[in-house]
Amino acid sequence: MDGGSIPPSSTFSNASRSPGWLLRSDPSAGIRCWTGACFEQTVSMIVRRETPADVAAAREVQVAAFHKQGATHEPVEAPLLDALRSCDSWIPELSIIAELDNTIVGHVVTTRGFVGDTPALGLGPIGVLPTFQGRGVGLALMHATIGAADALGEPLIALLGSPDYYARFGFIASTTIGVTAPQTAWGNHFQVRTLTTYRSEIRGPFTYATPFDGV
Ligand SMILES: CC(C)(COP(=O)(O)OP(=O)(O)OC[C@H]1O[C@@H](n2cnc3c(N)ncnc32)[C@H](O)[C@@H]1OP(=O)(O)O)[C@@H](O)C(=O)NCCC(=O)NCCS
Repeated sequence: MDGGSIPPSSTFSNASRSPGWLLRSDPSAGIRCWTGACFEQTVSMIVRRETPADVAAAREVQVAAFHKQGATHEPVEAPLLDALRSCDSWIPELSIIAELDNTIVGHVVTTRGFVGDTPALGLGPIGVLPTFQGRGVGLALMHATIGAADALGEPLIALLGSPDYYARFGFIASTTIGVTAPQTAWGNHFQVRTLTTYRSEIRGPFTYATPFDGV
């Protein structure tokens, strides 16, 4: 195997433990991947703010991540992303990509929303290329987003997703703190993560950026 390539999951075989990558704690910020007991390779994952050069690749990642088998049209997340980019709610600091050895494998966007009249954030879409899922790329994107949003002084991030996944990042059912979903049917899948500047008075209905209305 070429030492500089990023192996897709199908490359791994005969592993004595689950194949994949491990986030490393050393300063090189590399990811160690392994194909089995006798082979180890380090590839670099960089999580960073999107640049104009990344726009097309970020879209492709979302299309691939949300593609449903047999679907003939691109997923709604693609035009949603396009519309978000060109609306007032776009926050450039919060369009974040994950790159593995110069290949964009993950993307997440968080845009302006409101709880009542209070500015807050709505996260989504988040997507990771299918062959790179389950290896911590989503985890890295989520932590980068939460950290960046906190640093920007935002009080709260809301999202619609599986509690099984997002609880690990501190998301809780929005109703726990008096924030109501745009659709009541979303139940506990509509979640919030409070940040440093959150105050308990921030309660009421959550409103996403306008392009979400068309989804
Ligand atoms: C959801 C997604 C962004 C997570 O990224 P990832 O890199 O695969 O995630 P990580 O490697 O950090 O975490 C993997 C864990 O997430 C869990 N997970 C992934 N998708 C999940 C889902 N939809 N519901 C619940 N858990 C999920 C996996 O089971 C795994 O759990 P474990 O750690 O307990 O084994 C990615 O799987 C993806 O792009 N999915 C398709 C698009 C999508 O559904 N986006 C989210 C919509 S809310």
